[in-house]
Formats: sequence, structure tokens, C-alpha cells
Amino acid sequence: MHARTESDVLVVGGGIIGLVTAWRAALRGLRTAVADPEPGGGAARVAAGMLAAVTELHYGEETLLGLNLASARRYPDFVAELADATGQDVGYRACGTLAVALDADDRAHLRELHALQTRCGLQSEWLSGRECRRLEPMLAPGVRGGLRVDGDHQVDPRRLADALVTACERAGVVFHRSWAERLTVVRDRAAGAVLAGGTEAAADQVVLAGGSLSGRLDGVPEEVLPPVRPVKGQVLRLTVPPAYAPFLSRTVRAVVRGSHVYLVPRENGELVVGATSEELGWDTTVTAGGVYELLRDAHELVPGLTELPLTETRAGLRPGSPDNAPLLGATALPGLLLATGHYRNGVLLTPVTGDVMAEVLATGVLPEEARPFSPRRFSSVRQEQPA
Ligand code: GLY
Repeated sequence: MHARTESDVLVVGGGIIGLVTAWRAALRGLRTAVADPEPGGGAARVAAGMLAAVTELHYGEETLLGLNLASARRYPDFVAELADATGQDVGYRACGTLAVALDADDRAHLRELHALQTRCGLQSEWLSGRECRRLEPMLAPGVRGGLRVDGDHQVDPRRLADALVTACERAGVVFHRSWAERLTVVRDRAAGAVLAGGTEAAADQVVLAGGSLSGRLDGVPEEVLPPVRPVKGQVLRLTVPPAYAPFLSRTVRAVVRGSHVYLVPRENGELVVGATSEELGWDTTVTAGGVYELLRDAHELVPGLTELPLTETRAGLRPGSPDNAPLLGATALPGLLLATGHYRNGVLLTPVTGDVMAEVLATGVLPEEARPFSPRRFSSVRQEQPA
């Protein structure tokens, strides 16, 4: 006979989105479990941790901007609460960001971005190349101008993931350290999952929070399967020796020949350089070409970077959705909810995702700010369902 466990909420996936959902749900008094062989793993082990609501604004994503800004505003209180709960510091750094242009095309692109930011009422200041270099002396002499965005900060996603595991443990979340293999559906309602090894993890509500893997759980009816896909990102980590510090004082980024490159300096000397964006399915190979392109573009931006030790190369998978925005809340299958599809913004959206998911799990009502992100916007039966 197989073992059986029971909870109010089963979260499938223990990356930062699953963990924050579980932590916040447990704080609301829900008996919560997480299924993941390695809680605290996933894309956050690779991500740079930019909280770049303003510098990563894209045309057509103004609705997403609202959620991104709401989450960015929550960050200081969120990390303070996490530190209180765990005694762990997650490396939140209110350092700001400088987005620079290296040639006339980049400059035109940045001017367009500045106009969009201004239309959206965002704080962003145009600087000359000389003003950029005054702020960041390691920048290349050829920098043609830039945008100073003092509100786009950073956090260390690995420390964030580790702290969320501790917070969950302390809040009484149960960890099933195995994969969920199959959603259990009883009388047209999600009722838990069967875990690797056969344990039946029964739950009143199931949250699918498996990042790019969220669309692959067996047993989920086709019409509610989340339309997420993996988007590969290769990321490098370098180390700034104490003698070179401060190498950069804020995040520096640019679009070089159409590719985004960013350099995120941590207080502990780590310098994260990212990221490629590749639609290659489940491939997580670090390639010579990917490393070459990142180093080439980063070197154009900050030539002195090639002196630094290269300490790590890694690739992760962003959970992309058809409109680049997350899927949050109930699906058309009663008892099954989603917290996935965060694409480029998983770290940024962690605080608001936790709050939104805890609210909908505890009350059944999706908060106003999350309504545009209901999974039902992609459901073929959506039109036939009452709102
Ligand atoms: N938000 C950074 C990235 O997706 O590479």
C-alpha cells in the first residue's frame, strides 16, 4: 500500500515562486506542502537578481509594468520580514542601474526607451557619455550616453532561495523531496499529486509552480496546461578582487548589436554577467559561443573586466509565456491554481506573487492587481466561463 499525506495546499515546484507561495500560504494558517527534489533550486540559482522594472520595460508590457512596480515597492519590507523570520540576509542592494549606449543605434534605442519610460511616468534621467563615466569610471571611453535609473535595484537570488527554504521550514511547510509525477483529479477537481515513489500527496488545492517545467505534469487536462516554454539564459560569474574594488557601484547594462548584456556587482565581490536568450527547448549546455558573446559584449562596455577571474558559467531556463507575463491564480479546473510563466521577472515578482497567491488560496479571490494575469486569459474555454 502507498503512503498518503494530506494538506490544505500542495505546491508543485520549490523554486523561489513555489517557496514564496508556500511560505505566505503557511503564514495564513494553511497546512502547506511543497513537492520538489531540491527545494531552493531552479532558475534562481542562475539568475542575476536585477529588480529592473524600469530598465527592462518593453513596448506592449505596460500592464505587466504595474505588477513589476508593485513588487519592486514591496521588496524592502519583504526582505526585512524574511530576515526577521530566518536571520538570513538576502543581499538586497538599493544600488540603482545605468543603461548605456555604445554606438548611434544603441543610443537611438535608449532614447526610445527613455521616451516610453517618461510616458509611463517612470524616473529615468538621460546622461551624456561623460556623465556616465563620471558615475562609473570603469566604463569604456566610447560610451555615447545613458539612462540613470536610481530605482532599479538587485537582490542575490541564491540567498533569496535559501532564505525562503528556511522561512518555509520555520512556518511549518512540509517538504516532499521528490518530483510530483501526476496530478490527482477526483470528480473533476484537483485533489493532490502522486509523487515519485508512489506517495499520494492529497491536498484541497494544488499550485503548479514548476517554472519552465510547469506544462509537463502528467494528469493535467490539456485545456488548463500552462502555455510555458523554456527560454535558455547563459550567465557568467566573475570575482572582483578587493584590490580592484569598487569595480562598479551599480548595475550596468546595454544592448550591444541587439543583445542585452548586464553586469550586476554584489557587495561580496561577485560580478554577474548575463544573459543570452535562446529558444532551444530543454538544453542547458553552456556553450563556447554563449560565453564568448557575453564576454565580448561585456568587454566592450567595461574593458577592464577581462582582468577578473571567471569563477562560474551556468545556464538556466526562464519560464516564458505567450505574453511574457505570469499566470497567477485559479484555472478552469477547480482546485488547480498556477504561479508560473514569470519569464524575465521571476526574482522581481517574488514578493507580489507570494501575496497574491496566499490571498487567492486563503479566500478564493484573486486580488485586483493580479486579475490581468489570470491563467484563464489563455484558456480556450475562457469565454464560456463566468468571470
Ligand atoms: N531579467 C534578466 C533576464 O531575464 O536575463
